[in-house]
Amino acid sequence: MCGIFGYINYLVEKDRRYILDTLVAGLGRLEYRGYDSAGVAVDGDNENEVFAFKEVGKVAKLKQLIEESKPDLDATFVSHAGIAHTRWATHGQPSRINCHPHRSDPTSRFSVVHNGIITNYKELKALLESKGEVFESETDTECIAKLTKYIYDQNPSVDFTTLAKTVIAELEGAFGLLLKSVHYPHEIIAARKGSPLVVGVKTSRKMKVDFVDVEFSDSGPLPAEQASHNVALKSLKSGPQNSLAPPDKSLLHRSQSRAFLSDDGMPVPAEFFLSSDPSAIVEHTKKVLYLEDDDIAHIHEGQLNIHRAGKREGGSAVRAIQTLELELQEIMKGKFDHFMQKEIFEQPESVVNTMRGRLDVTNKKVTLGGLRQYISTIRRCRRIIFIACGTSYHSCMAVRGCFEELTEIPIAVELASDFLDRQAPVFRDDTCVFVSQSGETADSLMALRYCLERGALTVGIVNVVGSSISLLTHCGVHINAGPEIGVASTKAYTSQYVALIMFALSLSEDRASKIKRREEIMEGLGKISDQFRQILKQNQAIKELVKKFFHNQKSLLLLGRGNQYATALEGALKIKEISYLHCEAVMSGELKHGVLALVDENLPIIMIMTRDGIFKKSLNAYQQVVARGGRPIVICNEDDEEFRNETCEKIELPQTIDCLQGLLNVIPLQLMAYWMAIAENLNVDFPRNLAKSVTVE
Ligand code: F6R
Repeated sequence: MCGIFGYINYLVEKDRRYILDTLVAGLGRLEYRGYDSAGVAVDGDNENEVFAFKEVGKVAKLKQLIEESKPDLDATFVSHAGIAHTRWATHGQPSRINCHPHRSDPTSRFSVVHNGIITNYKELKALLESKGEVFESETDTECIAKLTKYIYDQNPSVDFTTLAKTVIAELEGAFGLLLKSVHYPHEIIAARKGSPLVVGVKTSRKMKVDFVDVEFSDSGPLPAEQASHNVALKSLKSGPQNSLAPPDKSLLHRSQSRAFLSDDGMPVPAEFFLSSDPSAIVEHTKKVLYLEDDDIAHIHEGQLNIHRAGKREGGSAVRAIQTLELELQEIMKGKFDHFMQKEIFEQPESVVNTMRGRLDVTNKKVTLGGLRQYISTIRRCRRIIFIACGTSYHSCMAVRGCFEELTEIPIAVELASDFLDRQAPVFRDDTCVFVSQSGETADSLMALRYCLERGALTVGIVNVVGSSISLLTHCGVHINAGPEIGVASTKAYTSQYVALIMFALSLSEDRASKIKRREEIMEGLGKISDQFRQILKQNQAIKELVKKFFHNQKSLLLLGRGNQYATALEGALKIKEISYLHCEAVMSGELKHGVLALVDENLPIIMIMTRDGIFKKSLNAYQQVVARGGRPIVICNEDDEEFRNETCEKIELPQTIDCLQGLLNVIPLQLMAYWMAIAENLNVDFPRNLAKSVTVE
């Protein structure tokens, strides 16, 4: 849930200004992952010296602190390793002392930045304290730095990789981490288990290397007697098995045993960027390599070597160097004030990107390459279980009816955390679909592992390429919504929705009885983007409506039923998370069973009343509200005669196929949430207590 960034140059002269600016700019791009404190560690003026700067608050405050500290910015380095971190607190309050990088000792012989959670840190801390180590922070991360120093002190001749392997063998939990040390100057260790890490490579000559061999040395960590600490060494499991789009290895250039050598065998000048997210790398290079779980990358002397934690236990033997399909402008706000606003307005394009090359409206055909091999198995499965969290869960709820109708397979929709709490039964003939923007959400990831262990077929519907869920599932679909930076998810929701509808269309391709319905849905999808554009024109009107009705309110109800219950849930979540206004989604059919008691002339109520097969029932709820003096704002279809003579406030939307209407209905709710937050002068992109991807339980 934090952002980590590292920079290392080799034979490329850079001054400290550049190095610090690069690290701080990297943090700026990752700030959406956590923004309660930030820090960097770079080499000092003397050998064995490290400069660390840490500050509470956003990255801008760290930048200010660095400026005030006046380090010698002109000092140059032909080779240098720096690490940086932006934090979302899990263990310990946001404070300078709890801020990363954490150090092994007051002279910072080892510095570490970490994303994730070390679940056995209390045991490690107690052990290290019994050996005389003194801890200064309340974090789980500090034990990594102290443990590294402790093991090193017993074996000062150990190489950095073996040392890292030994440390990592002791860690339980999930992590992406970077380690730097005065004992291994100009080197960085990057390790991943459960938290994403990507390495960007920029060489001074055109790079021919397409992938890097993984070094499966069977030597493993230091034997316990050499490590001379009494923590049991643990055997780590092998890495991920699958990828949504595995590179065609026969077409790739294999590197020699070591990467980035010139023809004469000499290392080429190179810069490496390490990050939890490619968005912090793209401005430097598009050549990236995604680490897999249990990978330990060691960067030194211009070379990138990848080792496995533990012994060889299967898994892929190469890591492909891929070219990022991400443009810098995609991660910039452009003409918009906030990322959320930009992402709301991007939806006419992002849904087209989700459908591109997959939906052929003219020939009424859907092709999902990532599912092709598995589609007939899924058609025969006992049931489909959708598993997700938050907004992604809502997108599953939104398409449940359409899946049931088109596939006639029993469908369950589960919140990942609850699914795990119940240890719900899963069978080999189940298909489990994991929907996640980030592909890294801890609850979803754990539920995925749970389903894999039980032999179910797993499908990933994911936005972030190379993320854990996309790597671990048997097959899947990338939603291609582009980077979503705003903490409140908007365009990922609509793209997940569209991707899932296409999935249902694919599954029902063999059903003669569904031909007409499928065609109707495909035609509807073909028009969605233009309808989004039309709705977005109401932005200003929605802003005014928000000003008029929601200022100084404490609570709000959002009513919907059938497919629109999911829209109500998603709208309510958007409003809560960025405007901090309590908003409850109510299934309209349940109104009379209790919630009606809340209704009076003062409580703001929004009712989703677009036309579908249960419109008459929705109308009952409307009448119940009005009869109690309620004054609902109604989201209805354009020129709906039912509301023509009603005095209520209306947001009128174009009509589409019932199972797609939720795509349109959510847009005004996203805009309302945005304008509610702006009206209260709140930071839309960085809502309090939240971060973009929740990589802790
Ligand atoms: C809300 C929001 C969260 C996420 C949830 C799951 O706007 O963004 O509710 O939807 O944390 O995240 P992913 O989709 O990354 O698994």
